[in-house]
Amino acid sequence: MRIGIIGAGLVAQGVAQLALKSGHELMLSNGRGPESLRDAGRKIGVSIGTVDEAVAFGDAILVAIPFSAIHTLPTEALSGKLVMDAANYYPERDGRIEELDMRESTTSNILARHLSGSLIVKAFNAILASDLVKDAKPAGSPGRRALPIAGDDAQAKQVVATLHDELGYDVVDAGPLSESWRFERAKPAYCVAFDESGLRGALSRAERDREVEEGSWRK
Ligand SMILES: NC(=O)c1ccc[n+]([C@@H]2O[C@H](COP(=O)([O-])OP(=O)(O)OC[C@H]3O[C@@H](n4cnc5c(N)ncnc54)[C@H](OP(=O)(O)O)[C@@H]3O)[C@@H](O)[C@H]2O)c1
Repeated sequence: MRIGIIGAGLVAQGVAQLALKSGHELMLSNGRGPESLRDAGRKIGVSIGTVDEAVAFGDAILVAIPFSAIHTLPTEALSGKLVMDAANYYPERDGRIEELDMRESTTSNILARHLSGSLIVKAFNAILASDLVKDAKPAGSPGRRALPIAGDDAQAKQVVATLHDELGYDVVDAGPLSESWRFERAKPAYCVAFDESGLRGALSRAERDREVEEGSWRK
């Protein structure tokens, strides 16, 4: 599959390395433009381009940028595309967003409102970038780590689940986008290494108004 990546930081590079290894074609992009990505592109061995070029390139698109930047994504060009959303809301970085603070929406539902014609799947947001390559294991490995996904389109979720398996992860489907809060920042499933049954438990333990200790997932 061709994967266009918007963002070229820690998450983008981690997913790109795994996807390359499993035979996918990648294009990285960022806000500053391809000139600033020449070294990274060469180091990882992927194509680089503008955001518009990455969108045109990809059968699927990974959004790996700060949540505050999602309004810059090109709505029309992304219409009809499968978009994997790895963005998380960090108020100190992104600014306060009332509908998230009031638990009235989810990060992915806000993205879906902006990208109204895209098929959004929340994915790759609940693993630290530094664990992405380290924790990947072949299918069937004992204790293989599982990652959560959520989305409203069953076919899009199937594509993303298959991609996870190829990259080195089991998957747990947490339901529609409206349930994606279950693995947003500071929920029990957020950035903690669980196998499939452990992840199912963490997702079902999540409470809308309760957060785990800030940063505990980095310990
Ligand atoms: N780091 C983690 O462990 C981790 C884990 C899971 C999820 N996440 C989430 O995933 C997202 C990316 O995290 P990260 O750690 O990879 O961030 P990062 O290392 O800071 O990289 C962010 C990337 O986004 C690009 N970018 C920023 N604004 C952009 C725009 N408007 N258009 C295109 N590209 C843009 C930046 O390049 P320019 O500056 O050139 O634009 C940079 O390449 C965040 O929402 C984060 O919360 C992070």
